[in-house]
Amino acid sequence: MCGIVGYCGFRKAEEVIISSLKRLEYRGYDSWGLAVRDGNELKIFRSVGNIGSADFTGHFSGNMGIGHTRWATHGKPSEKNAHPHTDCTGKLAVVHNGIISNFQTLKEELSDRGHVFRSDTDTEVIAHLIEENYSGDLKTAVIRAIKRLNGSYAIVAIHSEGESLVACRYKSPLILGVGDEELIIASDVPALLDYTNRVVYLDDGDVIELKKDGYSIWNGKETTRSVESIPWSIEDAEKGGYEHFMLKEIHEAPGVIENNLAEYVPRDIELDVSFAEEVDAITVVACGTSYHAGLVGRYVFENLAQIPVRVEYASEFVYGSFLQRNSLVMGITQSGETADTLEAMKRAKKMGSKVLAITNVLGSSATRVADYVIYSRAGPEISVAATKSFIAQLVVLYLIAIELSSIPLSEKRKLIDELKMLPGTVQSIFQYESEIASLSEWISEYENMMYVGRGYGYPVALEGALKMKEISYIHAEGYPAGELKHGPFALLGERTPVIAILIPDDSYSIMLSNIKEMKARDSPVIALADENDTEVEKYVDRVIRIPSTRSILAPITYSIVLQLLAYYTAKARGCEIDRPRNLAKSVTVE
Ligand code: AGP
Repeated sequence: MCGIVGYCGFRKAEEVIISSLKRLEYRGYDSWGLAVRDGNELKIFRSVGNIGSADFTGHFSGNMGIGHTRWATHGKPSEKNAHPHTDCTGKLAVVHNGIISNFQTLKEELSDRGHVFRSDTDTEVIAHLIEENYSGDLKTAVIRAIKRLNGSYAIVAIHSEGESLVACRYKSPLILGVGDEELIIASDVPALLDYTNRVVYLDDGDVIELKKDGYSIWNGKETTRSVESIPWSIEDAEKGGYEHFMLKEIHEAPGVIENNLAEYVPRDIELDVSFAEEVDAITVVACGTSYHAGLVGRYVFENLAQIPVRVEYASEFVYGSFLQRNSLVMGITQSGETADTLEAMKRAKKMGSKVLAITNVLGSSATRVADYVIYSRAGPEISVAATKSFIAQLVVLYLIAIELSSIPLSEKRKLIDELKMLPGTVQSIFQYESEIASLSEWISEYENMMYVGRGYGYPVALEGALKMKEISYIHAEGYPAGELKHGPFALLGERTPVIAILIPDDSYSIMLSNIKEMKARDSPVIALADENDTEVEKYVDRVIRIPSTRSILAPITYSIVLQLLAYYTAKARGCEIDRPRNLAKSVTVE
């Protein structure tokens, strides 16, 4: 989704803005632009495509400016639709993330009053509304203008006559970085880390004025917010010698598991889940990969803790869902900013449920909506494809389920011990990486794939297929293995390879029968199977070996292999891995 940056300090604004926008490239964008106050003039540049090696030497020379990467929602990607957008005078410019749902009405109203629009965007109405309310004080003009807006927004505004930037947020993230004699405001943490790790998370309704000598926040009245330290360094958000962020992040899985265990199981589990002890049911609301983590969680909670779990796409939960009394709603969201998940969490609260956020981002919107928060400590994830954050979510879900389970203490300890062995087990997966890469070369020739599993293998299949389609653009479907014969069998054949998730548990023998049925329909079958499995080779075309672990933990090891399979297939097809087409890292619109 779009990225926002605003700078006010002693450096050349364009240099800070360009380098910070580059840090936000992972969010996905199709055009970009910046505006810098140069003397009493506002200089603006906008362009379609990537920032690349943009160099403005000699063009701008101001210390205050705003920038934006745009992911088109209203109006196609073009120079005229790229931000910043200006008012009629050209003295005021704004960048905006989110969607102004009443923009059409506002546009008609403003046009009737003589405003001339030059773009197809919803954002432009904001510039004109601020213009109408401006009489020398940008902050007051912004406060008045946003009263007219419906929808969601993070906005930064600049005026050629002013000495300050004014920003505000409602349902769209915005973070202030507080440096030494400089301030930088952005939609996401990586944009700030080159300059500071001291941040202020803004709340919905906050309007902030940034001046060289400080900032003030207004939310109905003057307000203060605490300054927090980000526990990530810029190196954490860099590639560290890997060709792509995605590969680096897959390789970080062992460390991510260790981090979560170190945080929550220094000795025994020290994760406070007392709020969930009396619940009768759990409902998970999430999107994409986080939804798949919830599906794994369903099996884990039901098997270990005998708590019924329902897993809902957050975007569907809002349509008349019913929550049983005494339910806990878990919003699982890596970014903590996914609009659909936030809406579902709010709805659950309105319906009287307690809401837990499982998120990777300290201070994100999900943490404000929720009654309780558990951080899945994955560190910054830059690649659009969620990999290590999924693993972190699973670890957190295992720990909660173990804590809520009434299995004997000795059994809990065994599970914890096995979790503690996982970093080593996952590390040993990487010894098969070149095999996975060569198999991926072969897969890369196909255009359709099927992923199947049963029990714990089913959400793993869904997630494997999502990862494959997302970055390699191969059409991949995930299915419960038992469902294929109820329709999808019609798609099988020699041009549709099947990835079969074979976990050595009570699903194993029926999975082998299902594989025979698929082979009988001429589909090449590749099995992911336990390293000690001596049977599977007789049934399938290729086997990828997975280091042994207890079946309940297998979603972690098997998923990492499927992440590698997707990565190397996308690489073989020459895809742009970290920023797949049409996608964004953080989906902040419903
Ligand atoms: C997965 O690779 C995707 N990038 C996507 O499905 C993602 O998991 C989804 O958009 C939810 O994001 P969240 O966890 O930040 O809420």
